[in-house]
Amino acid sequence: MWNGKKVLVTGGASFIGSNLVDALLERGATIRVVDDLSSGRLENIEEHVKSGKVRFIEADLREPGVARAVMKDIQVVFHLAADHGGRGYVDLHQAGPASNLFLDGIIFWEAVKAGVEKVCYASSGCVYPNHMQTDTTKEVYLREADVRPPHDADNMYGWAKLMAEMTLQAYHREFKLGAASCRYFTVYGPRGVENHAVIAMIARAFVGQNPFEIWGDGQQIRNWTYVDDIVGGTILAAEKINDGTAVNLGTMERVRVIDAAQLALEYAGKSADFKFLRNMPTGPANRVADNALARKLLGWEPQVKFRDGLRRTMDWYFADRKPAQVKELLETMLTAR
Ligand SMILES: NC(=O)c1ccc[n+]([C@@H]2O[C@H](COP(=O)([O-])OP(=O)(O)OC[C@H]3O[C@@H](n4cnc5c(N)ncnc54)[C@H](O)[C@@H]3O)[C@@H](O)[C@H]2O)c1
Repeated sequence: MWNGKKVLVTGGASFIGSNLVDALLERGATIRVVDDLSSGRLENIEEHVKSGKVRFIEADLREPGVARAVMKDIQVVFHLAADHGGRGYVDLHQAGPASNLFLDGIIFWEAVKAGVEKVCYASSGCVYPNHMQTDTTKEVYLREADVRPPHDADNMYGWAKLMAEMTLQAYHREFKLGAASCRYFTVYGPRGVENHAVIAMIARAFVGQNPFEIWGDGQQIRNWTYVDDIVGGTILAAEKINDGTAVNLGTMERVRVIDAAQLALEYAGKSADFKFLRNMPTGPANRVADNALARKLLGWEPQVKFRDGLRRTMDWYFADRKPAQVKELLETMLTAR
């Protein structure tokens, strides 16, 4: 299915985008990446660009004419470009993520005009109603059907993701555009960035931070999902979903922030006291996906347990980084992009 397919990956220099590019290249796709490098890094795909396997265009897709030009002759679009950061960014910035409304709008509109076969969209667990995610004593698993009126998405970032999903469904119904949305849940893995919780914890363990800072009381629950699983699910969604259905890509493993931090310290061979920063943004208290629909529609199941994924990610991080560089990053990155 992918051999020789002409694929556009928007935001392809990002953490998830670059891992997706690797996997699509393995399957033989012909790839064009557009990224303005506002949060992506060219080094993530540099090898492929230098070897001529990937055509890279540095451009802001919101600028007039850019989306139309890059869409030419493309068969499948993976749309990952977004104004996005970690929890600190999503909570504290509304204007940047609001521009995703028209960024997504331009991409989908131009995809229709260019006769693209399929758009596969990087959505998010942030489309789920906030009010379902407040109680850590409840074993809640968010099901796709829980996204229904009255909507209660997570910040402007979540509303834009929701509007994009709905736009794709309408474009499928009325314009016959093939479409799929993947709701990613807190992704981690190699090339991850310190503004996301798991990489921030790894960074703190790496520099030996003591006391070790945790945002909130550490009781927040997440289903951190390894990037290889996310990439595999995204490609399957592009293969198997055509009607704009949105599907959760997330494990059902429930991990508390404090336990993840403890494990990161243990793997680093360090111990530290915890310092809870209760005024920092934490996001929802309890966010875990139900992945039954992905199992049914895609035959997808996450393969990587948190313990294993964390170790793999730490191996990458510890080999890749220098302590002085990370100490400086920790001052600035957590609420930035
Ligand atoms: N990381 C997660 O846990 C997570 C969870 C849910 C959804 N997502 C979504 O997955 C996608 C990839 O996220 P990520 O975490 O890998 O990194 P990211 O947020 O850095 O990815 C966004 C990419 O798009 C590029 N970009 C942003 N605005 C652009 C513009 N106007 N024109 C061109 N390029 C632009 C950035 O430089 C970056 O490479 C995003 O759409 C994000 O919203 C991520």
